[in-house]
Amino acid sequence: METIVSTRNEKLKIKNEKLEKPQKLSKIKLANKTRISTGIGEFDRVVGGPSTSSGQGGIVPGSVILLAGEPGIGKSTLLLQLTDALLAQRNFAVDFSFSRDKTHTVEKALRHSQNEASQNLLGSTGSCLYVSGEESTQQIKIRAERLGIKGENLLLFPETDVDTICAQIEEEKPLLCIIDSIQTLTTADLSGTAGSVGQVRESAARLAKTGKDLGIPIFLIGHVTKEGAIAGPMVLEHLVDVVLFFEGERFYPGRTLRSFKNRFGPTDEVGIFQMAEKGLVEISNPSELFLHERDKEIPGSAVVPILEGTRPILVEVQALVNQTSMAYPRRVASGFDPGRLSILTAIISRRLGLPLGSWDVFVNVPGGLRVREPAADLGVALAIISSFKNKPLPRGSFAFGELGLLGEVRRVLGEEKRIKEAKRLGFTKIISPSTCTSLSQATLFLRSEV
Ligand code: TYD
Ligand code: MG
Repeated sequence: METIVSTRNEKLKIKNEKLEKPQKLSKIKLANKTRISTGIGEFDRVVGGPSTSSGQGGIVPGSVILLAGEPGIGKSTLLLQLTDALLAQRNFAVDFSFSRDKTHTVEKALRHSQNEASQNLLGSTGSCLYVSGEESTQQIKIRAERLGIKGENLLLFPETDVDTICAQIEEEKPLLCIIDSIQTLTTADLSGTAGSVGQVRESAARLAKTGKDLGIPIFLIGHVTKEGAIAGPMVLEHLVDVVLFFEGERFYPGRTLRSFKNRFGPTDEVGIFQMAEKGLVEISNPSELFLHERDKEIPGSAVVPILEGTRPILVEVQALVNQTSMAYPRRVASGFDPGRLSILTAIISRRLGLPLGSWDVFVNVPGGLRVREPAADLGVALAIISSFKNKPLPRGSFAFGELGLLGEVRRVLGEEKRIKEAKRLGFTKIISPSTCTSLSQATLFLRSEV
C-alpha cells in the first residue's frame, strides 16, 4: 500500500514539474522569427514576405506546409524547383559565408535562430528529401531534366509507409522534406486505404511531429478537385501551420499561389507564376501577363485594376451580348463569379432599362485569372453595356468600383494603388467612384460614335 502511495506522489511531483505555469504577458519574449528563404521570391512573399515583422520572407523551421491544388496544375514542379533554389542558395552560403550581406541564406538563418531544433539542422547533411508515392524516380528524373535540375543534394525516396519515411527523416535530417502526395501515405497501424480521412490525418500528424522535433520544414502536397475542394486534404487544415493553394486554368500559363491559412504570416499575399516550357517562372510584373496590346477601341472590353493580395494587377474583362435563341437567356462567366454576373445583368436591366431579358450575356477574363473582387463590378457592367450598345470605352480608360443594387457606384479598397498601377501602364482615363456616382453616369464614358 505504502509503495503505491509513494509512486503516486512521485508521479504527481513529476507532473507538477512539467506543468506550464501562467506567465505575465509583459515577461514573454518574442521568439526569434528567423525564416529560411527558399530562393523563390514569389514563394517567400506568400509564406511571409519582407513586409512581415521579421523583415525576412521564407519558411519557418519546423513548420508544416500544405500545398493544395488540382491535379496537373504544377505542384510537383513548383516544389522540385523550390528544392533546387534552396540548395543552390545553401551552396552559395557555404562558399561565401564570410560575406556580410548574404543574410537570406539557409546557413545564416539557422545560425541566427535561437530555436534549438534549428541549431541541430546546422549539422544536417544539407540535402532535401523528396518522398514520392505517386511517381517513379524515373518520372521525376525526366521532369528534373526538363527543368535543368541536376539534384546533387536532392534525395528521391519512393515510399508510401509513413513510419519508414519518418525514420528516414530522423536518420537523414534533411534541410526540408517534401511529401508528394499526402494522399498516397499509409501507416500499418490503421486499416483504411491510402487517401482515406483516417490515413491522411494520421500520416500528416506523424510527419508533423517528426518535423517539429527536428526543426525540419515539411511540405505536404495535397490534391483537390474542382468539385470536392474542401474534402480531401482540407481535413488537415487545423493540423498544419500553413495552407497554400496553387491555382490556375490548366490551359493558360498563369498560376497563382495563395495562402489560405498562415500561422506565421499574412494570408493576403499572392505569388504569381507562369508555367513555361522549362518550368515555372516568377512573374513580378503581372499586368503585362494579363493585359493584351490594345491598339483599337472594341465594344465589349474594359480594363480593370484588381487587387491580388496587396498587389494591383490590370486585367481585361470581355463581354459578348447576343440575342438569345433559348427560352431563357444564358449568363455564362469564365474567370468571374456566375452569381455575381446574374446580379449585374439584373442591375443593368432595371437601372438602365436595357432589355437583357432576351439577350445571352457571356463574360470572360482572358489569361486564366479568376476575378473575385466586387471592385470589378463596374468594369464588367460597362463591358456588357458596351457590347449591347456596340459602343467602345475610350482607349486609355480603366474602370473599378462596386455596384450596389440601386445602381450606385461604391468605393472600394486600395483605390490609389489601382490608379497608380493603371497610370504606370499608360491608362489615364479614370472611371471610378470618384468620377461617377451611378452606373448610368458611368455609361457617359462610352464613345457615342461606333
Ligand atoms: P505537375 O507539377 O506534374 O502538376 P501536379 O503535381 O500539380 O499534378 O505539372 C504538370 C503539368 O505542368 C503538365 O501538364 C505539364 C506542365 N509542365 C510544363 O508546362 N512545363 C514544365 O516545365 C513542366 C515540368 C511541366
Ligand atoms: Mg504531382
